[in-house]
Parts: sequence; C-alpha cells; structure tokens
Amino acid sequence: MAGSDSSIVQFANVGLRYGTDREVLSDISFTLYPGSFYFLTGASGAGKTSMLKLLYLAQRPSRGMISMFGEDVITLPRKALPDVRRRIGVVFQDFRLVPHLSAFDNVALPLRITGMSESQIQKPVADMLEWVGLEHRMEARPETLSGGEQQRVAIARAVIARPEVLVADEPTGNVDPEMAVKLLRLFEALNRLGTTVVVATHDVHLLRKVPDSLIMRLDKGRLSDPTGALKYPPKREGNGR
Ligand SMILES: Nc1ncnc2c1ncn2[C@@H]1O[C@H](COP(=O)(O)OP(=O)(O)OP(=O)(O)O)[C@@H](O)[C@H]1O
Ligand SMILES: [Mg+2]
Repeated sequence: MAGSDSSIVQFANVGLRYGTDREVLSDISFTLYPGSFYFLTGASGAGKTSMLKLLYLAQRPSRGMISMFGEDVITLPRKALPDVRRRIGVVFQDFRLVPHLSAFDNVALPLRITGMSESQIQKPVADMLEWVGLEHRMEARPETLSGGEQQRVAIARAVIARPEVLVADEPTGNVDPEMAVKLLRLFEALNRLGTTVVVATHDVHLLRKVPDSLIMRLDKGRLSDPTGALKYPPKREGNGR
C-alpha cells in the first residue's frame, strides 16, 4: 500500500457495525505517521471509542483494511496479536485497573510483563506516580481511589513502558483543568521521545493546548480532517490551523 513505509497506522475504507445494527463507523480512511500527536474529536456517540478499539485491536472491522507497524492486522494470525498489542499503550475510558492490585502494582504491570527486575521497576514506577500526583496513594487499591485518581493511575500504566503508540480515550474526563493540562504535558513528553499519540476527546478546549497536534473529527461515524494534514506526513513546526 502506498506510503506504508513511513506510516505507523493505515485504515482504508474501514466500516464497523455491532451485530446487525447499522454501521457506527463508515468509510474510514487515514494514515498516522510516527511521532505525531493526534486528537480524535466528535460528539458523544460519534464513534470515538469504537475507532480506538479498532486501533488497539480489541475489535475487528466489519469491512476494510487496517495495517499497523507495516503489518496487515486483519489477516494476522490470532496468536500474533499479543505482540502487536504490547507495542500499544491504552488509557481506557473506564480505566480498567486490576481491582486487587495497588496503584503501584497496576502501574508496574507493563514493566513486569517485559521481565524487568524488581529493583529496576521501583524507581520509574514511583517517579511516574509522583508525576501524576499520587505519591501518597501508591499502596491504595483502585476501589479506594477517586475517579480522577484512578484515571491518573490508568494513564501512568499506559505510558510507563514507553509504547510506540499511545491510545487514550477521554483521558482527562475526570480531572480538573489544571491536572488535564499536566497530563497533556506528560503525553507531549512521551510524544517527543517518539511515541505516536492518539487522544480521543469531546472537549474542544483540549485541542488548543497542544499546538503541534493534528485533528481528526468524527461525525455520526464519518471521519473528517479539518486541517487536511492527515493526507501528508506532518511537519513538526506547526499544525496548520
Ligand atoms: N458494544 C456495542 N454494541 C452495540 N452498539 C455499540 C457498542 N458500542 C458502541 N455502540 C454504539 O456505537 C456508537 C458509537 O459509540 P462510541 O462508544 O464509539 O461513541 P463515542 O464517540 O466514544 O461516545 P462518548 O463520547 O459518549 O464516549 C453509539 O451509537 C453506541 O451506542
Ligand atoms: Mg467514548
């Protein structure tokens, strides 16, 4: 496929329906380039979470083609999917923390999976929890944390292993505006280290906080690209808005 050498994700004519209902996503085609920062906007019910599910391979499309990291993920054998998923960090809209693990152990999980030793894990996890303002809640279990605190643990867990792609679904939906900006700075820092970031949000104020970002908009399951920038590898110096 054209441009696949320089792209990290490609969707071509993707459609998604749940069961026999009508399509919730239709004719979705776009290319994501490595190291870029994308916002996915759109009203509630427009299809943002559905699109992210396709991106983190939790959902197969009903039609169309998706390639990630240069591989056609639709025809990839099921047993190869975990290796692709490990390259993607996900912040779920409903957090999905492991209930019986502490905040610390939730954040440590992706590092433990890679086989890092306990002594190597301690400092980065503690530093990350401190960054998100939870140094005093490291031993707390998710059910004892507020919604915003759980969201911050979920974000820390998604970024700790520096994934190649970060997919975040309304990651600032439960925090105050000051913390929202701080969390965006964390995503930007990760982005500067090379991670391709995709943040879904219905909060249009958030978009202005990341000047170098590119915008995708969903409207009733159809994608528009207000800046036209998705068709070309983005320039780092501006977003063209
Ligand atoms: N598992 C499912 N089964 C059937 N319909 C679904 C399912 N998940 C989502 N939908 C429908 O698909 C459409 C898009 O939902 P989606 O969750 O992707 O929207 P969204 O843009 O993320 O909304 P929000 O901003 O409220 O999170 C909605 O009409 C929703 O009712
Ligand atoms: Mg959603």
